Parts: sequence; structure tokens; C-alpha cells
Amino acid sequence: MDKALLSKTAAAMVARGKGVLAADESSATCEKRFKTVNVECNEETRRTYRGLLFTTPGAEQYLSGVILFDETLRQKSSDGVLFPDYLAGKGILPGIKVDKGAMDLALCPGEKVTEGLDGLRGRLADYFKLGARFAKWRAVITIGEGIPSHACLYANAHALARYAALCQEASIVPMIEPEVLLDGSHTVERAEEATEAALRATYAAMAAHNVSLEHLILKTSMVVSGKDCSRQATVDEVAERTIRVLKRTVPAAQPGIVFLSGGQTDVAATAHLNAMAAMKGLPWPLTFSYSRALQNPALKAWRGEAKNAAAAQKAFHHRAHMNGLAAQGKWKPELEKQAA
Ligand code: 13P
Repeated sequence: MDKALLSKTAAAMVARGKGVLAADESSATCEKRFKTVNVECNEETRRTYRGLLFTTPGAEQYLSGVILFDETLRQKSSDGVLFPDYLAGKGILPGIKVDKGAMDLALCPGEKVTEGLDGLRGRLADYFKLGARFAKWRAVITIGEGIPSHACLYANAHALARYAALCQEASIVPMIEPEVLLDGSHTVERAEEATEAALRATYAAMAAHNVSLEHLILKTSMVVSGKDCSRQATVDEVAERTIRVLKRTVPAAQPGIVFLSGGQTDVAATAHLNAMAAMKGLPWPLTFSYSRALQNPALKAWRGEAKNAAAAQKAFHHRAHMNGLAAQGKWKPELEKQAA
């Protein structure tokens, strides 16, 4: 466990004005996304699309890191450079998704637990050699009638803590992601309760497993209303509730917090981050680690055609730029109109 390296990596991940691109969609998720723009999903189209994002001129101003999928960590740019080396050369930290996905949790209908601990120590050693300096593990918490259950929160927190400990042992910064899904008709109050419960369970497990808080990044969902709830919380309300929960549960020793977008619209994800980052006196830097909210416009512009690559890169650059500003509380809605 190289503590100096872990500290350096964690600080770089949340450097001012920068955030993380999540490009670690599993092949099944990638297929879903590609389908929306009628693009066939195979190893080569995934390589082309991700290469297009990574080689966007100037994106490194706003990106501290990129989370890769196992396949992508071993793929090369069109110039024949392995993606992790290409990214590192641009000053962007390569990261790796190491979980094996959320599976049904036995005896807990409607709930999931994330798998992937078996053999993880060996995989982490390989990933470090390939250049990965941080990792991601996503737990999925669903809100519904009588759920999340204690069993679900506990099982996921336990897995997150065992994963985090293995990562730190391997000198890889663990990004721990207990995602409370926004799917459903629940109120924002319920989202706040569930997020607080998930984070409490997560940090209790971190303590129980001797995970070092100084060498850890939280990736969290924001406290938003359920997608189908009739009352949608305002931007200021989302910011206030999210920060209240984070202050209650996340130790100040932690180097930073990043957010997932979770199905929010691109601009909503930016506006929410901006409202939180503009708050004074927070104990940790806040930034983005979005997949959909960074990639959607680029994917739509690309549509699988080489002739659209420049337009796709422009769209990606714009979202990265907007979120880079939002991470400093410097974003304004007018900036979106200027670009349109
Ligand atoms: P979204 O921003 O699309 O939620 O993805 C982030 C992520 O990495 C989910 O694990």
C-alpha cells in the first residue's frame, strides 16, 4: 500500500475544475446506448466511439480521470497506443470498473447486491500493471415499498468495504459508489432518507474494514425526486438536501466527492452540481463523474459515422467544459444557450 501514491491520485481526481468521465459501461449497457442511435455494438465500434471521446482536443482541461471497462483498458487508439497510456500521456488518470454487476439479492425481492470480490486481489494487481490508478465499484439501492431493506444496505456496504480495502492494498484509489436509483414515484424526502441510510451503512462498513478515509473517493447519487413523482424538487432543493445528507454522513477526512448523473438530463446534472459547488465552507471538493450526462449529446451527434466525429467531439467538449465550470460553482444557464 503506497500511501503517497494513493494521496496523490485521490487529490488529482478532484483537482479544481476537473472531473471524471465514466466510460466503463459494460458491453450490455453499451449496446443499449448504441441502440438509441442505431449503431451496432461490437468491440471495434466501442473502441472507435471511446477513442473519439478520449482524443477530444482540449478535454484534458476538464477531465482528471476516465473510468474504463476491462476491454477498453486493453484496447489501443488509432495510433496504436494503449488507451491507459494515451490517457496518462494527456495527464488523465486511467481508472477501471472492477465489479461484475448487480445481481438479485437472495430473499430480498426487488433488491440487488453487487458481485465481483472473488479473485479481485489478482485482478487489481494486473490492472495496476496496465496503468489503472483508481477503481470503481457500483452498488445499486432501489427505493420501493418497504425497501431498501437493512439486508440490502448491509450486504452492499460490506462488499463496498471489502473492495475498497483490496484496492488500497494494491495502491489503487477506490471510488465507492452506493447509487440510490431515481427510478420510481418516490418523493424527494424518501430519496433523502434512503441516501442517508445507504451512506451511514457504507461508512460504518469502511470503519469496520479498516479502510483509510484519506485514500477514498465517494461517488454518490444526488438527492432527487423519483423520476415518476408528481412533485419534482427544484435545483436549490436538490442541492440543499444532498449537501445536508453528505454533511451528516461523509467524514471530512475524505479527499473528495464525485456525483453520478443517474438518468438526469444533461443540463440538470450540471445545474445541480453547480448549485452544490457554489456553497461555501464545504469540507470536501465536489465534482462530476458522469457517464450519460457527459456523453449523450456526443453519442447523438456521432451516430456511428466517421464524418460526424468532429461534431461529436465538439458536443463532448462542451459538456465537459460546462461541468468543469459547475464543479467550481461558475456555470450559468446562459452558457448553454450561447453554445446552442
Ligand atoms: P451515469 O452518470 O450515467 O449515472 O453513470 C455514472 C456511472 O458511472 C454509473 O456507475
